[in-house]
Amino acid sequence: MKAVILAGGLGTRLRPMTYRRPKPVISLMGRPFLEFQIRWLESFGVEDIALCLHYQADRVESVLGDGRKYGVRLHYIYEETPMGTGGALANASQFWGQHRLLVLNGDVLVNFNLYSMVDFHVARKSIATIALARVSDPTSYGMVMVKPDGKVARFLEKPAWDQVSVRSINAGVYILEPEVLTYIPPAREISIERETFPELLSAGLPFYSYREPFYWLDIGTPEKLMQAHFDLLDRKIFADLNGTRISDHVWVDKSSHLGEEVNLIPPVFIGPHAKIGDGSVIGPYAVIGENAIVENECEIRRSVLYENTIVGANSSLSWSLLDEQSQVKEESSIQGFLLSADSVIGKGCRTIKASETIDS
Ligand code: GDD
Ligand code: MG
Repeated sequence: MKAVILAGGLGTRLRPMTYRRPKPVISLMGRPFLEFQIRWLESFGVEDIALCLHYQADRVESVLGDGRKYGVRLHYIYEETPMGTGGALANASQFWGQHRLLVLNGDVLVNFNLYSMVDFHVARKSIATIALARVSDPTSYGMVMVKPDGKVARFLEKPAWDQVSVRSINAGVYILEPEVLTYIPPAREISIERETFPELLSAGLPFYSYREPFYWLDIGTPEKLMQAHFDLLDRKIFADLNGTRISDHVWVDKSSHLGEEVNLIPPVFIGPHAKIGDGSVIGPYAVIGENAIVENECEIRRSVLYENTIVGANSSLSWSLLDEQSQVKEESSIQGFLLSADSVIGKGCRTIKASETIDS
């Protein structure tokens, strides 16, 4: 089976991070995000993967290369203007050919047995099978209503609250037979969710949903991206995290440097060449990226520091994400903050929660 990863979106909900690089290669635990998807596909024997790209496409290609380092062949298919999730597939029709195709949204972190989904699809002679996830709020997703036999009854993209009737949503993982292509007119922008799926339903074709309890997360917002880091630390999804594991849920890369009396509270990940100053408390749920510097007597909890960031002495961070090359100067206290790349928070700054009042 061949695979296509739809990865041409603008990543608007991840701005300002996606001004600097496109969502597919934003790093998760120091690895380009798509590496997780590619390795997952490779573990189920998928050898040919096409990446349908538009926004900063050359950047994706330069990071991932020809795929050899992941044991796959990567094919790059560019769109001059974004063709939408369906149009991108029509644009990939030559690659698709007469093969069964696995399609992945390029921003979902998933882990389940792909062989079982293929068996399910084949046994039902389905022409399209979509994996389902469960969320408490389906309004940002494609809501999927299902019949008792697993057939899709209705697909509603981004339902309004008063349209929400179930919590099952499209996980962004499909198996499609080549016949589906005949339902996607070429050379125009098409949403597979808003146009093609409803069309398959009105044509009465065997269109199934596949439900299995599995880990699933769309990393498309800063909060979700942080969550993905924390879930990896919790081993909710398996990934080889490289660094040396010194105890349960503590990963410290051999090339990093820990000062005196540093307290690591699991789960923690300290990347290559990172430096942690004396007396600092790191964790729980802290990811310190490559070359990041945390000076003396800092507290870093529930936060992600990207590559080459600096946190000045006596500062504390919680629920915050520092994008690469950003700095928080000494004696600052930052909570619930996304600091964009190259920005600097001055000495002694404090973020204040909206609900907090200032005592005079
Ligand atoms: N090549 C290409 N061209 N890719 C695109 C385009 C395009 O014009 N537009 C979007 N994509 C890619 C994005 O890069 C992303 O990887 C994927 O398609 C989905 O787009 P998002 O913009 O992230 O969509 P969403 O998260 O709002 O909703 C989609 O994903 C949900 C699951 O996370 C839908 O498929 C929902 O139905 C689904 O529930
Ligand atoms: Mg998304």
